[in-house]
Amino acid sequence: MNNTLKIIPRAAAVTHGGPAPRHIAIVMDGNGRWAARRGRRRVVGHRHGLHNAREVVRHCARRGVRCLTLFAFSSENWRRPADEVQRLMGLIQGALETEVDELHKNNIRLRVIGNVAQFEKKLRDSISAAETLTAANDAMHLVVAANYGGHWDLTEACRSIAMAARAGALDPVRLCADTVERFLSTRDLPPPDLFIRTGGEKRLSNFLLWQVAYTELFFSDVLWPDFGAEALEQAIADYNHRQRRYGRTAAQVAGAGAAEERRA
Ligand code: FPP
Repeated sequence: MNNTLKIIPRAAAVTHGGPAPRHIAIVMDGNGRWAARRGRRRVVGHRHGLHNAREVVRHCARRGVRCLTLFAFSSENWRRPADEVQRLMGLIQGALETEVDELHKNNIRLRVIGNVAQFEKKLRDSISAAETLTAANDAMHLVVAANYGGHWDLTEACRSIAMAARAGALDPVRLCADTVERFLSTRDLPPPDLFIRTGGEKRLSNFLLWQVAYTELFFSDVLWPDFGAEALEQAIADYNHRQRRYGRTAAQVAGAGAAEERRA
């Protein structure tokens, strides 16, 4: 399969934020408040949130973002009123069914991370069908985190590592960070370069805890249904002004950059 987006023309993209990060991860917060401000029910906010998620996926695909991870339902969201949980499940199910063809036509691979075993069979089947259909696509990786929690991800990794050690397939003495990464749900993905949380709160909410160790964090007061291409470009522009040091000094990083430019 080739790498061109068939129904998402690149020319139409707003690109003033500068080069796109390779992996963007988003906590889509603020749907409930968006609805409340309009005197509407929370589910209306979630529907608009889903509509915006579609726009952001399109924009990221046009921009050449390699991986986009969206936090659709956390392992703690079961604590919400039963009616809201049920409607969120319905929205996720509906989105999988209606969007998968467009994703596939655009060479986008869909993957769901999280404890999907706790979902009803119908939803599990839709997830598995969408993942199978798009498995070979490589223009962009769309990762939907559903019933996901960083604690769950790390606990599952620990369990698998312990089992592998017990079976003699892994030497615990040689365990290192790379080993842990190989057992996480994101094992074949690069770590996020840019983490965005909309809706004004400044917390991670148990999202990709291991993976965001060196991710640049961006918090926006804009509520998720209003966080469109323009807002995303502002986040990308902000990201492009950061200096990623990974423990080194600013001078070291600047020196390495200058050396790279001389070689180019
Ligand atoms: C947080 O806003 C949002 C959620 C818990 C759900 C997000 C889900 C969607 C946008 C739909 C499904 C998306 C995909 C990609 C399949 P909130 O309800 O906590 O808002 P509030 O803080 O204003 O109450």
